Amino acid sequence: MEFQIVPIAEEHIAGFHAAVDSVARERRYLAMLQAPPLEESADWVRGNLRKGNPQFVALVGGQVVGWCDVFPEKRETMAHGGVLGMGVLEGYRGKGIGASLMRATLEHARKTGFTRVELTVREDNLRAKALYDKAGFAVEGRKRKAALFDGRHYDLILMARVF
Ligand SMILES: CC(C)(COP(=O)(O)OP(=O)(O)OC[C@H]1O[C@@H](n2cnc3c(N)ncnc32)[C@H](O)[C@@H]1OP(=O)(O)O)[C@@H](O)C(=O)NCCC(=O)NCCS
Repeated sequence: MEFQIVPIAEEHIAGFHAAVDSVARERRYLAMLQAPPLEESADWVRGNLRKGNPQFVALVGGQVVGWCDVFPEKRETMAHGGVLGMGVLEGYRGKGIGASLMRATLEHARKTGFTRVELTVREDNLRAKALYDKAGFAVEGRKRKAALFDGRHYDLILMARVF
């Protein structure tokens, strides 16, 4: 499958929002169960664009089918670090899109001065964990029962890569 990885731009906001909403509504992978309102997502993306935060999207035939971003920590002693979030639409997974998004985003993060990127992943999300392992993330801890989905608790695994 042909896909393109590009830095997010204004024209991708609606597609990005729809992709986040679709993956969130699967109720298995993301901390949110639906996307925030479109205007909130738009403000968030525009803030990232203004600040130059790493945020890439994957396009297939012009449609946003995946995203990956690193959002910097707010406090000044931790601002060299960021939190990574990503997703690929069901139907487009397992085709190398996630790995390519990750490569582009980490490269940008590194170039713009991040020295730490972290994330949490639900303990049973084996595909995501495999991708993070391959991308050089190390397990730093386990947040026990940190997530509650449909009445069931899950541990979250904390992983990070340092440059
Ligand atoms: C996790 C996710 C972003 C990975 O993206 P992807 O495009 O599916 O991944 P890729 O095709 O690039 O595969 C990357 C690696 O993941 C692993 N992987 C892929 N498919 C897999 C599967 N079915 N089972 C286990 N591992 C798998 C492999 O190690 C693969 O590397 P390889 O192809 O060199 O062997 C994507 O599957 C997704 O969006 N899942 C739902 C949302 C989500 O989990 N987001 C992250 C929350 S922390």
